[in-house]
This record gives sequence, C-alpha cells and structure tokens, in this order.
Amino acid sequence: MGQPYNRIFNFSAGPGVLPIEVLEQAKEGLMNYKDAGMSVMEMSHRSKAFETIIQEAEADLRTLMGVPDNYKVLFLQGGASTQFAMIPMSFLPAGKPADYVVTGAWGKKAIESAKVYGATNLVFDAKAENYNYVPDLASLMYTSDAAFVHFTTNETIQGVQFHSDPTLAAPVVCDMSSDIMSRPVDVSKYALIYAGAQKNMGPAGATVVIIRDDFLEEGKFGLPPMFDYKVQVENGSLYNTPPCWTIYICGLVYKKLISDGGLAASQQRNAAKAKLIYDAVDNSGGFYKGHSQPESRSVMNITFTLPNEDLTNQFVKETEAAGLDGLKGHRSVGGIRATAYNSFPVEGCEALATAMKDFAAKIG
Ligand SMILES: Cc1ncc(COP(=O)(O)O)c(C=O)c1O
Repeated sequence: MGQPYNRIFNFSAGPGVLPIEVLEQAKEGLMNYKDAGMSVMEMSHRSKAFETIIQEAEADLRTLMGVPDNYKVLFLQGGASTQFAMIPMSFLPAGKPADYVVTGAWGKKAIESAKVYGATNLVFDAKAENYNYVPDLASLMYTSDAAFVHFTTNETIQGVQFHSDPTLAAPVVCDMSSDIMSRPVDVSKYALIYAGAQKNMGPAGATVVIIRDDFLEEGKFGLPPMFDYKVQVENGSLYNTPPCWTIYICGLVYKKLISDGGLAASQQRNAAKAKLIYDAVDNSGGFYKGHSQPESRSVMNITFTLPNEDLTNQFVKETEAAGLDGLKGHRSVGGIRATAYNSFPVEGCEALATAMKDFAAKIG
C-alpha cells in the first residue's frame, strides 16, 4: 500500500495506532535518551530525567484538554477496568447509590464492578436495542441523592458516542477511554474523567485520571494506598513504580497533538475520516447497514454489517490481504468495526471506503 516502513492500515480498537513521528522519536532515544546513557525504559522513576518527562506530560495534557487548576491529573495502572472498581471503592458511600448510564459493553462492566461496593441504580440501559443509540443525558431520571452519575462517552464495541458534555446535578464520572483527545471537552462539567492510554494517547499500561479537588476530598480515607486517589495525588502518581515508558510515549503524543493544532483540529480530522466510511455505508444502497442510529454514531469506532456472515468473512479476508487489518467486528455486534483513532491516517479510511465500494459492486 506504499505506507512508510511497509506498515499496514491498523484498524484495531486497542491498542491502537501511534503516530509514525512518535515511533521514530522513541526509536532515536531507545539506546541513549537525551544523553542520559540509557533508555527511558531503564531509568529510575525518581531520576531528574523522568521527573521532567512526567511533569511535561501532565503539563501538555492540561494544555490540550484545558484542564482547570482545581483538577489533579494522575497516571495510574491497572487499565480503565481498575477504575471501574477504584471509583466506587472511593466514592460510593454507604446509604447513597451511584447512577449508571449503560450504553454498551464497557458501561455494563463498570456497573458490575460498582455493585460489589455499594448500591447502584441503572438509570438507562439500551440492551433491548443491542446498544445502538445513546440517550439525551439531560432527560433521564436520576436518583436525587446519587453519589455520582457514571457514563461512557464512547462505547468501543458497539460504536455509539455522546457528542456533547452533560450538565447534571450530581457529580459526573466518565469513562473516556476510547475517545479522549479526539475532540475538545469541557472538563469543568466532570468530577472525574478516566481513560486507558492505549487508544488515543499511547501504548497500554497507563490510565489517565483527571479529578476535581472537591470530589477528591469526598473520597473515602484509609483504602489500601494503591487504590487511594489521595495517596496517588500526594505522591504525584509515583507511589510505586509507574509505567515510565508508556508515560513517556503519551508525552510525545501530546506534543504532536499540540503541534498539529490541538483538539479542535483533531476533531476536524477525525470527523472527516469517519465520514468517508459512513458515506460508504450510507451510499451502498443498503448493502452495508450501520449498527448505530445516525445521531449516536461514533467517530472513533465505525460499526456496520454486511448481508450475511459469509460475505462478512469474505470482506475481512479480502481487505486483510490488501493491508487493512483488524476490521472484524466484536461477536456481540457482528459485521465490521473500523476503528479510526486520532493517529489513524486518513489514507486508511480512503482505502477502506474504496474497498467497500468495490466489494459491494462486485457482489451486488
Ligand atoms: C470504553 C472502554 N472502557 C474501558 C475499557 C477497558 O480498558 P482497559 O483494558 O484499559 O482496562 C475499554 C477497552 O477497550 C474501553 O474501550
């Protein structure tokens, strides 16, 4: 396909594509990072060099996302899945429920974890429609004394996404794992945002948590230190050995996003990429069918089906042979899932749209 380094188009939903420039920079510093005489993988997390790396990563993340001063930023471990548990451990006190809005597989996992620690209220669940839409968050009936409301901005498996920030009475806790930094968000609308790094920010291993000071203060004291947000904040994410390499790569990705025009520019690029594929779905005369209702469509994970499973398998096989990898949809949705995170090149979306048109013409 003529891609640099013979790379293929990687439509994986995570870990996802990293910018070539970032991989090149990482390669340059692999043997001797900035004359430290070692790579970032080998250096002490207490060293001056790493201190600079983590501080710059945090500063650049704050710049990109416009994080207000009354929020802390953490780089934790255990993936977003650990946040499913850490959040209720800290913020679900006895006698108060937490409200969960479930629009797909990840929100479902989040509430299952929370149930272990306290009372939960399922305020919305689109299971009956196989999670093909998101509700208007302002119109749901919440518990009057909810400790927090949890939702997932982008459901990675089903390909449904909320397209605006909510204004709710209760503290809003949000899993942004699969669309963080794909567009600007108003951080001040949230009490806590979390996201695994491995989709839009870097390799697997770090989970970003952005937490408002007053919400942090409401958290439970006396948890095991690794699960205690206050301990993590007091130690600047260095209570134990952090995922140094992942944080370093995230930092490089943040710098690239800033130099590429910030998140407003990301949003434009991502919208244009997704449109190429959704147009191929919508203009196929019904050969391809989008899984999500149009107004809930994800810009990150584009899910659609073909007329039957044999054709789906044939499509996957043929596109794979042409260097379009990772398109097979999750078994719960079937069909195809084309993931186009921030660093996924527009040429890959063009190639897929062309392959879709050619395949439909050939079969149809
Ligand atoms: C929206 C969302 N939340 C949570 C997770 C789980 O993340 P992790 O593997 O970092 O625990 C994923 C992983 O794909 C995801 O897409």
